[in-house]
Amino acid sequence: MSLTIALAKGRLQDETLARLAEGGVRVAREQLESRKLLVSDESGRFQLLFVKPSDVPVYVEYGVADAGVCGSDVLAESGADVHEPLDLGFGRCRLAVAAPAGAPADYGHVSTLRVATKYPRVAAEYFRRLGVPVEIVVLSGSVELAPLTGVAERIVDLVETGRTLEENGLAETDVIAEVSARLVVNRASYQLKRAEVAGLVDLLEPRSDHA
Ligand code: PRP
Repeated sequence: MSLTIALAKGRLQDETLARLAEGGVRVAREQLESRKLLVSDESGRFQLLFVKPSDVPVYVEYGVADAGVCGSDVLAESGADVHEPLDLGFGRCRLAVAAPAGAPADYGHVSTLRVATKYPRVAAEYFRRLGVPVEIVVLSGSVELAPLTGVAERIVDLVETGRTLEENGLAETDVIAEVSARLVVNRASYQLKRAEVAGLVDLLEPRSDHA
């Protein structure tokens, strides 16, 4: 039985394909260079779906894909009911709160804090736990602009090197979660395609010779 795997287009896709290639799973170059969104590896063992990162958990939860690779940030935000057997160890960054450099670190100065983010669910839950009333402003990118333009007082976004924050006059005030790429598996596929899923976990497992 073949496995259908949903891959987040972009960096995680490249790293996942590289790890599969190390395990001998090859996808023809012309397939990868094409605009096809569904390709097969040369052995026919895997069908690969190239989708938007935030759609990976959706395809996997609904069983369109047996498995997928996405960031733990996207997974947390989706709330998808999927099995999560493996931390792939790449795509490391953090989901953090940031404020204009020099802004008060505590949240006592405003009655309702406006927070801009691509992660409304995770951000709302984080501030709810802190007991800080927030209005979440949902953006789909360039979130660091929000404090500069007065759209929000804080942001919740991914930080990797910290360069985007710094170059936009922002500073990290809190880390909500460490993020890395995860393998997720549809719950039914996990039972029905046990051997295939185990084979995939084995292929993707971080090894000491991996960076
Ligand atoms: C991501 C993230 C930050 C930036 C962090 O944005 O949302 O903006 O990278 O990286 P850094 O800490 O190394 O500067 P992305 O490039 O995905 O674009 P986006 O803002 O449109 O989401």
